[in-house]
This record gives sequence, C-alpha cells and structure tokens, in this order.
Amino acid sequence: MTPAGEPAFSLRGVSYAYAQGPAALSEVSFEIGRGETVMLLGANGAGKSTLLRLMDVLMAPTAGRICAFGREVSPDILRDAALSRWFRSRVGFVFQDADAQLFSPTVEEELMFGPLHLGLAADQARRRAHELAASFDIERLMDRAPFRLSGGEKRRVALACTLAVNPGVILMDEPTTGLDPKSESWLIDMLHQLAAAGKTIVAATHSLHLAAEVADRAIVLGSGSGLVADGPAGAILDDLELLERANLIHTHAHAHDDDSHAHPHTHAGRHTHGEDGR
Ligand SMILES: Nc1ncnc2c1ncn2[C@@H]1O[C@H](COP(=O)(O)OP(=O)(O)O)[C@@H](O)[C@H]1O
Ligand SMILES: [Mg+2]
Repeated sequence: MTPAGEPAFSLRGVSYAYAQGPAALSEVSFEIGRGETVMLLGANGAGKSTLLRLMDVLMAPTAGRICAFGREVSPDILRDAALSRWFRSRVGFVFQDADAQLFSPTVEEELMFGPLHLGLAADQARRRAHELAASFDIERLMDRAPFRLSGGEKRRVALACTLAVNPGVILMDEPTTGLDPKSESWLIDMLHQLAAAGKTIVAATHSLHLAAEVADRAIVLGSGSGLVADGPAGAILDDLELLERANLIHTHAHAHDDDSHAHPHTHAGRHTHGEDGR
C-alpha cells in the first residue's frame, strides 16, 4: 500500500479558501522526503495552520492535489476504516492548542486512545501508554486530568499521545507556543531525538530560534499565502531580505543606518512578529 521510496508528502498547486474568505493558501507545491525535518515559516495569517490541516486531511484543498506516501489523500479516505487506519498510523498531528487535542478524563486514557483506536488490545495499549510516559517523564501525571495540567505538561502529553501510534510523520503547529525556556529546550531535544530516529517532522512556526535549532529545510509562506522560499534552513535564515519581506523579522535597518543591530551576520536585530501564532 505504501510504495517504497515515495516522498512522505507531495503537494501540487494546493490552494485553500475558507467560506467567503480570500485565499488562505495559494498554489503551494512541494515534496517532503522521508526523514526530513522541515520548518514551515510565515507571519501570522500566512496560511501555516491551514496547510497543516490540509496535510492532516482534516479538510480538502479548494484546488490542487495532496499525496501521502504516493497515494492521493482527501477527507474521503477517513470514511474508509482501513484507509483511515493506514493514514492515521503514519501521520500524527500535534495541535497548536493542546486543549483541543486532549479530551480524556485522565492522561493514561489519553495515551491509550490512539493505540486502542488502531486496534490494540487494552493491555497492549496500557503497556504502550506506560512506556511512553516513562520516556516523556510524565508517569506522575498518569492519573491527572489533562485539562488541569500546566502548558508545558500539556504539550508533553499531547506529543506523547501523537507518538503513541508510532507515526513516521509528525505534523506540529506552533510547538513552542506557551512554553517556558526549560520546556522549549526539552522540546528541541525531543525533536532532535525524533529526527535521529528517522521521523519526518513538519512544524509550523514563526520562531526563527526553533527553526535554527532543528530544521534541515525551511519552507516560507509569504503574506500573499504563497510559497516564497524553500531550501536549506541555514541559507533561508541568513537571508534577511527574504525574512523581512515575509514579515518574519524587523531589522530596524532603515531607522538606524549605522545601528550594528542590523548587521546581517548577527541575529541581534531580529524580532519575530506576533505572540501566539494564531
Ligand atoms: N476557520 C477559519 N475561517 C475563516 N478564515 C480562517 C480560518 N482559519 C484561518 N483563516 C484565515 O486564513 C488565513 C490563514 O490563516 P492560518 O492558516 O491560520 O495562518 P497562520 O497559521 O500562518 O497564522 C488567515 O487570513 C486567517 O484569517
Ligand atoms: Mg497558525
């Protein structure tokens, strides 16, 4: 069912418009190879979340085609139990808002939900939940209600739940939102470990820090919701003119011509826009 060597994702001319809205995404094309760590960069409203929702087949593109592992996907496939299982066991999505993802009465049940849904027996699902809890250092939270956890704890639980079905591809929307510096370093370490384990990671962010720490490749959406750059993360993060045009930085270069903060080889003059990425 999954031809070997096919890219994890292939998008061709993908556009999306919400009802009565302008284009939220405009003719986007790219491929994501297996094992890549890709950061989807763009200012607020550029269409990052829309793109991830389309890749998670939560909605269908208005135009264009999305293939996962060589097979065209659309929300229709989720109505077929076998296809739905095929897709959901390969692609996991970590929501921006953990509260929208976590709904079980306890963390343990939350961790068991995905494995049970994919057909594991209860004792196997429970074993899987406890293994994950150990590797995420959340064993002490197992009997707690997810909605009562701190932001950092929720993020850990949400990522653990996504990994509970061992997907090869992990889609994440603004994974550092609301994390304190310690939780952010934990997340960066975790992404390095997942990448080293061969996972394909696609994360939407406006955090250039996160992109610089973990990405192999960056895809930039401009304010017109089209793709404005796609290439090695290092080269893209050094292209200040591009980042400024995409509203990802504000260099102050014109206000203070002799201001060394604007020097293109330092990161000192960079400020990402927006607070929560919604
Ligand atoms: N549920 C929705 N209904 C209508 N418009 C939406 C909805 N979600 C997003 N949009 C609009 O689509 C555009 C892209 O939004 P989004 O994908 O959330 O961008 P980003 O995640 O990059 O901030 C924005 O103009 C936004 O206002
Ligand atoms: Mg968003």
